[in-house]
Amino acid sequence: MNSKTVVNQFASLDELIKATADLVLEAAAKAAASRGRFDFVLSGGSTPAPLYRLLAQSPYARTMPWNLTHFFWGDERIVPPEDKESNYGQVRRILLDPIQIKGENVHPIKGELTPSEAAKKYSDRLSALWRERKANPLFDLVLLGLGGDGHTASLFPGSADMYEKQALATTATAEYGGRPAHRVTLTPLAFNQSRQIVFLVTGEAKAIAVENAINGPFDPLHIPSHRIRPETGMIYWMLDEAAASRL
Ligand code: 6PG
Repeated sequence: MNSKTVVNQFASLDELIKATADLVLEAAAKAAASRGRFDFVLSGGSTPAPLYRLLAQSPYARTMPWNLTHFFWGDERIVPPEDKESNYGQVRRILLDPIQIKGENVHPIKGELTPSEAAKKYSDRLSALWRERKANPLFDLVLLGLGGDGHTASLFPGSADMYEKQALATTATAEYGGRPAHRVTLTPLAFNQSRQIVFLVTGEAKAIAVENAINGPFDPLHIPSHRIRPETGMIYWMLDEAAASRL
């Protein structure tokens, strides 16, 4: 694999979020100029909420090529969109509604379906998109979080079988942090079809997981982020000092 990893750490949350928003803007401007669309995969969890809020504000609200931006999700909890645990619902409230995005640019995982129906539907949709992309990567930028146990999206430590499949999305079940256990997640096959991966991680509770992900011996079964290795893409780690404290 030829992916290149860049680790950035910031002294304050504001600086971290601003630098991440600038990275998104730069990728979006480049994709829009060269391909006429920006395919952006969003992560769930609480860490990216300030980023989504900032993107909804000036100057990003004005300078981002929103008409050419297409939103996808890296994972979803099996709850209806209006549920406060819905990853799509969170982004709808704090980013998509404020910027008044066109419906055709939003591609949520359907948390209101059964897990297997939702996974099949999303996988089929991404496969169709990939066929259109031909030799080009499926996505321009994939944003990911990290759990204290090392999970990313809904790729949890210890689950191996789901990754053998050729599907681009699959079901996952995990009890974690009191959040809904039934999920749909993109597979590494899908994540690795991206020009850029951005891990946005904060807090001391994630420091060991960050250390293992970046410096640990290759162990994809226990460290799912080791499966995220786009063949030619860039991997950025955007960290606060606490998350980076063991590097
Ligand atoms: C989800 C996720 C998940 C998340 C991490 C970190 O839907 O739960 O996408 O992988 O990114 O659990 O979550 P926090 O940012 O809330 O710590």
